Amino acid sequence: MKEFIQQLPKVELHLHIEGSLEPELMFKLAQRNHIDIPFASPEEVRAAYQFSNLQSFLDIYYQGANVLIHEQDFFDLTWEYLLRCQQDNVMHTEIFFDPQTHTARGIAFETVLNGIVAALNKAEQELGITSQIIMCFLRHLSEDEALQTLELALPYKDKIVGVGLDSSEQGHPPEKFSRVFAKARAAGFIAVAHAGEEGPALNIRNAIDLLGVQRVDHGVRCVEDAALVEELKQTRMPLTVCPLSNLKLKVFQHMTEHNIVELLRQGLCVTINSDDPAYFGGYMTDNFLAVSDAHSMTHQELAQFTRNAIEASFISATEKARMNAQVDSVVARFSA
Ligand code: ADE
Ligand code: ZN
Repeated sequence: MKEFIQQLPKVELHLHIEGSLEPELMFKLAQRNHIDIPFASPEEVRAAYQFSNLQSFLDIYYQGANVLIHEQDFFDLTWEYLLRCQQDNVMHTEIFFDPQTHTARGIAFETVLNGIVAALNKAEQELGITSQIIMCFLRHLSEDEALQTLELALPYKDKIVGVGLDSSEQGHPPEKFSRVFAKARAAGFIAVAHAGEEGPALNIRNAIDLLGVQRVDHGVRCVEDAALVEELKQTRMPLTVCPLSNLKLKVFQHMTEHNIVELLRQGLCVTINSDDPAYFGGYMTDNFLAVSDAHSMTHQELAQFTRNAIEASFISATEKARMNAQVDSVVARFSA
């Protein structure tokens, strides 16, 4: 099973590029940019990654991002993630970035975006990995600040496929951002949002109805509303689920209790993703392995996670067909 999971072609739809900052790179950038960090070694950084909930993670995650200053830093960060994608047979990735985490520190929007885009372009040329970029608004900040961020993004519309919503879900429901999402969609951006990670099922419903999202990030608390689960199934609304993240942030206490396999078997469009892999102990293959180790699954079921992600991705029908053929070929090889 391990070999099959390693070889299985994958598509990632929920990855915060700032969350792929490994402690070793954090140290290297801190030295390069003369920034003090409150740790003596990468091992000490790793030891500090003990989280009790989403907020306890976010506090450390925003602090870690302080070492990212120059375009080269954002390039290095993104390139390291893409090398992990290559190892894990990720064919296509749709990555989030949080511009406000950087613009609030005086880093230009363009510096962040250019570094990320340069690495993604190099990966397409040299590794054959395709990608899209989604810009997230930080929901603990105001809607006015999100509107200002949307203005900054408009000149780069050709490089950013969509907008998302992340950070602290508790106390910052989707409806707080209905105006900025309407404006973003009118400007041609696709919408997604984190909902039903720590917050209630109602946030999932409101993200769909009030923000017009085409995917729900996490969404695992949908099970608290049976009618909503049925609607997600009927509409094939994708959920970008992040199993290791959910364990680390105590959304589930044990992987055997995770509902992703049950939702897959009910026919929902659930996908496996890594969220913030440097903080949560694993990239795409690790997430697939963790789910498969805890739940007895067939090759076809595991491949369905990739087929769902292909269906849910923001790429052309031609690209989707090409990727589905790659999945077919690996599944066929392992069933021979
Ligand atoms: N930002 C980075 N990872 C996140 C998560 N899992 N939930 C909300 N905001 C995030
Ligand atoms: Zn996330």
